[in-house]
Amino acid sequence: MGNLFPRVYDMAMLPLERTKFNKIRKALVSKASGRVLEIGSGTGINFPYYRNASQVDAIEPNPVMNKRSNKRIESSRIPIQPYLMKAEKLPFADSTFDSVVATLVFCTIPEPVKAIQEIQRVGKPGAKILLFEHVRMNQKLLGKAQDLLTPTWKKICHLNRNTLELLTQANVSIKKIDRHFKGLFLTIECLNEK
Ligand SMILES: C[S@@+](CC[C@H](N)C(=O)[O-])C[C@H]1O[C@@H](n2cnc3c(N)ncnc32)[C@H](O)[C@@H]1O
Repeated sequence: MGNLFPRVYDMAMLPLERTKFNKIRKALVSKASGRVLEIGSGTGINFPYYRNASQVDAIEPNPVMNKRSNKRIESSRIPIQPYLMKAEKLPFADSTFDSVVATLVFCTIPEPVKAIQEIQRVGKPGAKILLFEHVRMNQKLLGKAQDLLTPTWKKICHLNRNTLELLTQANVSIKKIDRHFKGLFLTIECLNEK
């Protein structure tokens, strides 16, 4: 991803953010409470939606995305600490966070199982894990189309990643799943079981 990508990303998101995405993010992110870890915070699109968090530690490996999030950090009502790092290896102590948020991130993480393990490790027992992700669709043809596109598309993201399936294999208890856009996007609310 070059220097241009974060600006293009924000521009591409603008029409979506004005519509349903915005409502989905707001509803999900406002459920995060206490000390929050945000995974792959990108340009900080979620930052204005934290209502019940006391502090947010936001990790993002792309320095340009990270830099672009600074404006949103400055205008945030709650303290947000950015870190330049990946989800697969986090520097936080065990059981640090009350909530973990990830939106549109799991399709891009190279080692999603490791990332889930790290989220579980740094999350307190019973911590909320709040995800908004696009996933492989259940419809046969559309799911197959996602499989076919993934090898060429995977530089950007894995279109056919089944994040819900990965979560069901992890030690989390899934409390709520909402399907959006015919199941292409899911919001998933879990509790950390450990
Ligand atoms: C599609 S963007 C989503 C950004 C933001 N969360 C949002 O909702 O708009 C995916 C983000 O995941 C980040 N990312 C990629 N690999 C990652 C990893 N291993 N750990 C954490 N974040 C990662 C990318 O740099 C990018 O900012």
